[in-house]
Amino acid sequence: MSSLQLVNPRVRGIRRSPHSGLQSLGAQKPFKEVIDVSSGDPHKAGVKPISFVRQVLAVCLHPQLMKNKTLPLDVRLRAQRLLEVCDGGSVGSYTASSGMPHVKQSIAEFIMRRDAGVPSHAEDIFISAGSQRLLASGEGETQTGVLTPRPCPHTLPPLLDEAGVTLVPYQLMEDRGWAVDLDELHRALKTTRGRCEPRAIYISNPGNPTGHVQDRKSIEEVIRFAAAERLLLLVDEVYQDSVYGQEKEFISYKRVLFEMDKEYSETVQLVSFHSISSACMGECGLRAGYMEQVNMDPEVTQFVDTMLCTDISTPVTGQLALDLMVNPPKPGDPSYDTYTQEILLTLATLSQNAQRVQEFLKDLPGMSCQPAMGGIYLYPCLHLPSEIIEKAKVRNVTRTFMFMAQRGIRVHVSGKTQDFHPGKHELVSREYYLKGPLF
Ligand SMILES: Cc1ncc(COP(=O)(O)O)c(C=O)c1O
Repeated sequence: MSSLQLVNPRVRGIRRSPHSGLQSLGAQKPFKEVIDVSSGDPHKAGVKPISFVRQVLAVCLHPQLMKNKTLPLDVRLRAQRLLEVCDGGSVGSYTASSGMPHVKQSIAEFIMRRDAGVPSHAEDIFISAGSQRLLASGEGETQTGVLTPRPCPHTLPPLLDEAGVTLVPYQLMEDRGWAVDLDELHRALKTTRGRCEPRAIYISNPGNPTGHVQDRKSIEEVIRFAAAERLLLLVDEVYQDSVYGQEKEFISYKRVLFEMDKEYSETVQLVSFHSISSACMGECGLRAGYMEQVNMDPEVTQFVDTMLCTDISTPVTGQLALDLMVNPPKPGDPSYDTYTQEILLTLATLSQNAQRVQEFLKDLPGMSCQPAMGGIYLYPCLHLPSEIIEKAKVRNVTRTFMFMAQRGIRVHVSGKTQDFHPGKHELVSREYYLKGPLF
């Protein structure tokens, strides 16, 4: 790890020789390749891009390809339509800061289809170069506090820190497959008294890094809790496209909220995030995501809009990829079969890898690992014998390191199925984000 990464865990993608990891392990290993999964990047781990997305983007970038009859007709027509909504008919133009109106409309229609007709409006949707943005205020007792799961996505604590937010951890329940627990939410909230002003609760569903998928009942509980405590719900649903657990399905927080009584559906404020970095698209490098605001005070929406006006627009290629993600080929379109096969292959790969890795990890001495139901991670725990913990205390081994050793292992499950050979490939990536009190 470079010193830059040690200083700031948000620094990603430092170029390394493929063998440097092995060298740093300092011993001969029965494998030749290290797969660097630290950034959670599906394509880097071997997932192939969706052909339809790349073909349409290729035509948009090089419109002469429109005449190329080897490309499916729906690809060329879609590219034509997308270029028509780009200023000057070119992906090289700026767009509105909050995103291209055409793409925002596609997103709203996608959300309505996904949520069984619950209305969605383009003006409540904001596109940015990535799904995570946050604003906060106050200092000391009045500083914004955000209830945050433990474990949580490794990019979150630095993001909160940068925004000047106090992180208020709530523990996910490992023995219940990393479920969200209501009593634990109340306990966490109590700890904020005199420390900060809790204003929001962050939820990752399907969970990063736990692979947990919440059911309707659990979502309703969280919504009631947020309503009672007047918390804004920040719902990260970026892995909604990759649920593979048996009898598990993704239900959006927005849908559940709108199917509850009016006292909730018309009052609880919610922001939902999605991104082209999602597991099946995996287009992290194209940089685009969106947030949808629900029940937000119009002044807040206006403020966000004004604030975004100071930003340079999101890369157009990313916005177009977002459009393709939310509006894929339909049955009967020439690209439909290939598109469907590619998505199903990615899902099958994720599911098989998750199962194989979980079976491997849970059988290791001193390890436990809950099965994943969605997303791209597993979260095994290493149980250190009490003598080791005692010795570490005596030797004053830093609590961060110990905590990391105990819990901080995150396993990425994307990549080609055949890529996974326990013992041949190094699969675990050490994380350094779970700083927390061990002793
Ligand atoms: C929980 C979570 N949220 C959001 C993202 C996507 O972030 P971005 O859109 O900035 O690439 C990721 C990673 O891809 C993630 O794991």
